[in-house]
Amino acid sequence: GKVGVLFGGRSAEREISNMSGSGVLAALQSKGIDAHAFDPGQRSLAELAAEKFDRVFIALHGRFGEDGSLQGALELLGIPYTGSGVTASSVGMDKITTKIVWLHQGLPTPRYAVLNAQSDLAATAADLGLPLIVKPPHEGSTIGITKVTEAAEFQAAYDKAAALDDSVLAEEFVTGREFTVAILGSGAQARALPIVEIVAPEGNYDYQNKYFTDDTKYFCPAALPDALTAEMQRIAVEAYRALGCEGWGRVDVLLRERDQKPFLLEVNTSPGMTGHSLVPMAARAEGISYEDLCVEILRSARL
Ligand code: DAL
Ligand code: MG
Repeated sequence: GKVGVLFGGRSAEREISNMSGSGVLAALQSKGIDAHAFDPGQRSLAELAAEKFDRVFIALHGRFGEDGSLQGALELLGIPYTGSGVTASSVGMDKITTKIVWLHQGLPTPRYAVLNAQSDLAATAADLGLPLIVKPPHEGSTIGITKVTEAAEFQAAYDKAAALDDSVLAEEFVTGREFTVAILGSGAQARALPIVEIVAPEGNYDYQNKYFTDDTKYFCPAALPDALTAEMQRIAVEAYRALGCEGWGRVDVLLRERDQKPFLLEVNTSPGMTGHSLVPMAARAEGISYEDLCVEILRSARL
């Protein structure tokens, strides 16, 4: 049948989505699939319905693509789509609600505070300690994130995040190594791929170092003791299941230096599929090509 690859979109991650989607489109076409590009950022839902896609591959990141709103529209239009459903997409896009669910399940995630314009930043800094991380809770690709090292920088970091979102997340800074765990499948079938370790210049895995430089080093499978690999994969899969994620996703994890304890940072329910992206890297380490990965994700599309 006719497949739509949805990419572009309206979020701050549009540029990344264009890279992800063009890769997915070419991969599906190379496998003989009748795949077509569709940009919901530029065309209407009526036009999407008129395309009569049999299923769609969502290669959108961020709001209006990864956050459940598009998933809801596809449910209403009756078009099967890849990845998580409405609720998991929506919760996964919200880093605060994600933490609440994980904490409720006894899963480890850094301590945090939710800030608004009335918040006492000095008290927050005293409670969480410095450095701390300030994030807009509904963005991706590190957009709007600041590491606050001195109290004097906190207000500017807050303002930067607040300009992008209606609340702001402040998070305890966990000193340690940075990893990500790609996950394929749903429910009891969900399984972790080999872990990727990320070593960014000066520990700064930001927008530039994610996509546009070759200065970030990646190690896959990550060099970790077997027991720690198993533990990190186990909590990542639990974290994914706790949110009800489906199809595929990627859970970002920090390993605290002082006690080698893993902490969950966030889930990406529509992860990057660019040339620099990590789910394709993890799949490759297991012998799954980029093309086969795209086909496997497409096959999991459901309503
Ligand atoms: N939000 C980006 C696309 C990622 O997680 O890969
Ligand atoms: Mg993200």
